[in-house]
Amino acid sequence: MNVSPGAAPAFASPRGRFVTFEGGEGAGKSSQVTRLAERLRGRGLDVVVTREPGGSPGAECVRHVLLEGAAEAFGPLAEACLFAAARADHVDRTIRPALDAGRWVISDRFYDSTRVYQGGGVAPEMVRLLEQVAVDGTRPDLTILLDVPAEIGLARAGARRGEGVADRFEKEDLATHERRRLAFLKLAHEEPERFVVVDATDDPGTVAEAIWFAVETRLGLAPAERSA
Ligand SMILES: Nc1ncnc2c1ncn2[C@@H]1O[C@H](COP(=O)(O)OP(=O)(O)O)[C@@H](O)[C@H]1O
Ligand SMILES: [Mg+2]
Repeated sequence: MNVSPGAAPAFASPRGRFVTFEGGEGAGKSSQVTRLAERLRGRGLDVVVTREPGGSPGAECVRHVLLEGAAEAFGPLAEACLFAAARADHVDRTIRPALDAGRWVISDRFYDSTRVYQGGGVAPEMVRLLEQVAVDGTRPDLTILLDVPAEIGLARAGARRGEGVADRFEKEDLATHERRRLAFLKLAHEEPERFVVVDATDDPGTVAEAIWFAVETRLGLAPAERSA
């Protein structure tokens, strides 16, 4: 087909919207991703739910290596490169094709987690460079930061895990988790047009309402989408 440069074909779907959830362990990301996806689907929208690390077959393999802690021994830079490799695959295979097809994409963590978690051991400019290469222009329209004191989040994550073993990141100490909380808040402060900070200490229903309000107002659901 012959399409002049820069012109979208007449039948192209409008790009979908990309929402990411961020925050520490036990903040309620996975629960709220599910709730938001159901609510959007209830409005007739086509929603893809995904997560990081992972979200595509290649990236899920890397997820396994990362969360088992197998890459920890290679040092922070190698670990950051693995996150970037996983993200590149995730964006190429899952996120960008879905957005191009007009679908909504909701990701349980994305690059802000890397900025916060890997930012401790790798130069910030290196983290941003890897991010730029991995996402190649595909950036979230809205990022919901679920903010909860580390103590509460870790207690929730511990209760969820039961007798299970803490992963590579869950096992770190309270002070580290609290530092990450502040780092997430700093990112939100730096990009207020992309982020919404939601108090995640409230009950799940109240948190879900705050998220819905943010999605409606920030992403301007069309009336048909809202009332469908
Ligand atoms: N607002 C909330 N209040 C109390 N418990 C919650 C809340 N949100 C989630 N939980 C519970 O806390 C645990 C962790 O929630 P989850 O959604 O898995 O968090 P995350 O994905 O951020 O680690 C789960 O057992 C979940 O049911
Ligand atoms: Mg989770």
